[in-house]
Amino acid sequence: MDAKTGFEVTLLTGPALQAQVDVLAFTTFGDPSKDAVFKSADQALGGHLAEVAKAESFEGKPGQSLSIYTHGKIPAKRVVVIGAGGRGDFSNANLRDVTAAIAQSANKVNAASVAFVLPVLGANRDALLAQMAVEGVHLGTYKFGRYLTSEDQKKPHSLKSFGLVTDVKGKKPNASQTKQLTAAIARGAAIAQATNYARDLINEPAAVATPAHIAAQAQALAKKHKGSLSVTVLDAKKCAELGMGMFLAVGQGSDQEPRFVHMTYKPAKKPKKKIALIGKGVTFDSGGYSLKPSASMEDMKIDMSGAAAVISAMDAIATIGSENEVHAVTALCENLVSGRAYKLGDVLTSMDGTTVEINNTDAEGRLTLGDAITYARTKIDPDEMFDFATLTGACMVALGPYTAGVMSDNEPLVKNWLAAAQQTGEDMWRLPLNTRLREQLKSPIADMRNTGDRYGGAITAGLFLKTFAKDTPWVHVDIAGPASTSSNRPSQPKGGTGFAVATIVEYATKR
Ligand code: BES
Ligand code: MG
Ligand code: ZN
Repeated sequence: MDAKTGFEVTLLTGPALQAQVDVLAFTTFGDPSKDAVFKSADQALGGHLAEVAKAESFEGKPGQSLSIYTHGKIPAKRVVVIGAGGRGDFSNANLRDVTAAIAQSANKVNAASVAFVLPVLGANRDALLAQMAVEGVHLGTYKFGRYLTSEDQKKPHSLKSFGLVTDVKGKKPNASQTKQLTAAIARGAAIAQATNYARDLINEPAAVATPAHIAAQAQALAKKHKGSLSVTVLDAKKCAELGMGMFLAVGQGSDQEPRFVHMTYKPAKKPKKKIALIGKGVTFDSGGYSLKPSASMEDMKIDMSGAAAVISAMDAIATIGSENEVHAVTALCENLVSGRAYKLGDVLTSMDGTTVEINNTDAEGRLTLGDAITYARTKIDPDEMFDFATLTGACMVALGPYTAGVMSDNEPLVKNWLAAAQQTGEDMWRLPLNTRLREQLKSPIADMRNTGDRYGGAITAGLFLKTFAKDTPWVHVDIAGPASTSSNRPSQPKGGTGFAVATIVEYATKR
């Protein structure tokens, strides 16, 4: 049971057409007259479904849907059909938006129970589809409602149970299938709940989601998973002792004290490898003295989305279990202006001794991340490092608002990472880490400066980070675009998306 959304997703046995539910839902792939599930439902409803489909020009295309009353012809009160397009074009991840849309329409008609017929797309996809179905239900019913006060908006969801049915006619799954599907359902719930947790952290205003507040959330997660998950929180004094001159400079203009968070998941057995996850944790990015114009600053509470992703992913990793030792690291601070703020022309000394001339205080993420990467590299000594950061507007110019930019000079590692993203359906695309652009980062008075010139801004940011990753296998993921959204999609309401949580968990845990 999801304490927050208040419903449960379960495996239902028994024929779908006999399910005692408010809504019986299924997908139709293209022409309904050729779809087996549609045909058997239509038969049970005395041809009524096909009649309505014809009248409403329902052709099983993506985005199309049908909803009819059953008038007692079957135990379910209502049948909802969602168009899914051609079977060949349907990816597992597409199912998230399907079940998200079903859960939303169930809530709209005050339905308490849904039975959903899992599509059959090849036996080896059954478990993944079940996982995606569960994720969709949790993601689609997410709402950041803390600050809504009207009765109508505070109304809890009507949905109490969402059942997955493997076959319309009630052919029961065998013991091993049942075991697989049950595990997939638990996995989907853990991933989606962690994603929603990240959404909450991102959507919370910066006045509340301060460095100290986010550190406390990490501590709460460690407490929840005591035994496998632990956390260390460093204050500004401790970070100064470690020599984190770049991180501390970014935070020094704010009255909110910075925090450095290090979470560790340890498996019961000897770990296969050590993975370090590093998240950008700027709780508000005003730009500093290179001040952002108001319209660009408006959403900058989301500038800790990388931190939210790595912290939240640890929750799902601890729930699911991993054979790897996994670390999450984030340098949390606010980038503000004040009499104490860092300035253009300042020269900072990073944790690894590199000196950096500041030519733009709005390129603060790479400064905080640079020290976090050095910390991860030297204190954890990981086999692999990944960083997640709302780092550059340039990455959005290059790839649009829905796709993350992936940069690395380690071929096998970046291939494995992109394969995990392919599984989860999170949009990621590789950008070249062209070392020729490093010349843009030259400074006459320090080892380097923090920004380049106009062209290749996502890449020069990546090259800046590479300085600190050194030879440790490392992948940089710029999530400036997909970390939040201003357009509605069933599985992604407006606001923080929790992007990268699913792929991190997919990568770090074995199914
Ligand atoms: N946090 C921003 C990047 C960002 C922009 C994230 C839009 C999400 C949406 C980052 O700190 C920043 O300000 N980057 C600058 C870099 C520039 C000064 C080289 C940018 O992209 O303009
Ligand atoms: Mg900035
Ligand atoms: Zn920023």
